[in-house]
Amino acid sequence: MTIAADLVAQFKRLFGAEPRLFRAPGRVNLIGEHTDYNEGFVMPAALNLATFVAAAPWPDRRLRVHSLALAASTEFDLDDRWPASRRDWSDYVRGVAAVLQNEGYPLTGANLLIDGRVPIGSGLSSSAAIEVATALALTTLGGVTIPLLEVARLCQRAENDYTGARCGIMDQFVSCFGRQGHALMLDCRSLEATYLQLPPSVRLVICNTMVRHELAAGEYNERRASCERAVKAIGKILPDLRALRDLNLESLEHHRSLLTDVDFRRCRHVIKENARVKDAAEALKCLNLVRIGELMYLSHESLDRDYEVSCEELNIMVEVASRLNGVLGARMTGGGFGGCTVNLVQTEELSEFTEQIVSGYQARTGLTPLVYVCSAAEGAGAVIP
Ligand code: GLA
Repeated sequence: MTIAADLVAQFKRLFGAEPRLFRAPGRVNLIGEHTDYNEGFVMPAALNLATFVAAAPWPDRRLRVHSLALAASTEFDLDDRWPASRRDWSDYVRGVAAVLQNEGYPLTGANLLIDGRVPIGSGLSSSAAIEVATALALTTLGGVTIPLLEVARLCQRAENDYTGARCGIMDQFVSCFGRQGHALMLDCRSLEATYLQLPPSVRLVICNTMVRHELAAGEYNERRASCERAVKAIGKILPDLRALRDLNLESLEHHRSLLTDVDFRRCRHVIKENARVKDAAEALKCLNLVRIGELMYLSHESLDRDYEVSCEELNIMVEVASRLNGVLGARMTGGGFGGCTVNLVQTEELSEFTEQIVSGYQARTGLTPLVYVCSAAEGAGAVIP
């Protein structure tokens, strides 16, 4: 039985009602890391690993939520407009419900059953997937249809305002707007997306380091603060400067004395990374996969040295991959401090790659990585409307 069919069967057994069913995918980012909240460019793809929410209304004002993947439940009252955070997975549901109600969308009491295949806390946006699938479920049950772009924005706001993670729009956007077989280049200022076909001669292979360093959330907000500090400092002299997106390397160098060395390096990463995304889009259009691979390695190096969001395990995974046959490029993906790498691997070398990355990483770290051979999938929507 598929995960979706199983979820529906379990829902009927538990709640004795026919549910509606919604799906939202996780994502991998090919290139363009820590650029979204600088109004820059990113190039993610939605994954064929998704979260499903089965839901049916219940005649009261409570949301009862059960996660099969985590074997955990939670319940809260919709009349509590900003329910207290639990600091766990259920905050994504609470946050989405709170933001939707604050925006004036009517919600009804309901039972929600959640399951999914997006590895949790691994940098593949399991949080965006649960947020988006929950938002679709709650608004549909509430009898309203909101445009997908608004869904993405409100889910980002839930994460920013409710959980306190000051993330950009990338994850929620691609979870909503992914396209099968395509990556998308997103301009995070205009929110204009360009779809780029991924050639069948290569596969996206994701390698999970199996570590997640605890500093992740605090360090993420700290990186964002660095960027904002720099824009403020240089903005005193260049009043048109709105975000790091507007700055070039020359200008950064010119104003270097206004910045701490750390903030300077953070800016250098963002500016160069934006340029790499544009380069990679051009390279993908003319199927120059070798060039994309080079750009991925450069991105990783910059995230490690200038942005300082990599870690030993991610570096080892990239290094091991870089020595294997058929690997065009490899880099950390997502926020960093553990989680996953993304590898561009020639299809014909796939089985050798998956075998050797496991043994190579194991030999260096003593950890057994999980490897997901992925394809780019459609964005979120109703499976049973
Ligand atoms: C996390 C955030 C995104 C983005 C990446 C880094 O995934 O949710 O908005 O900032 O980190 O590129």
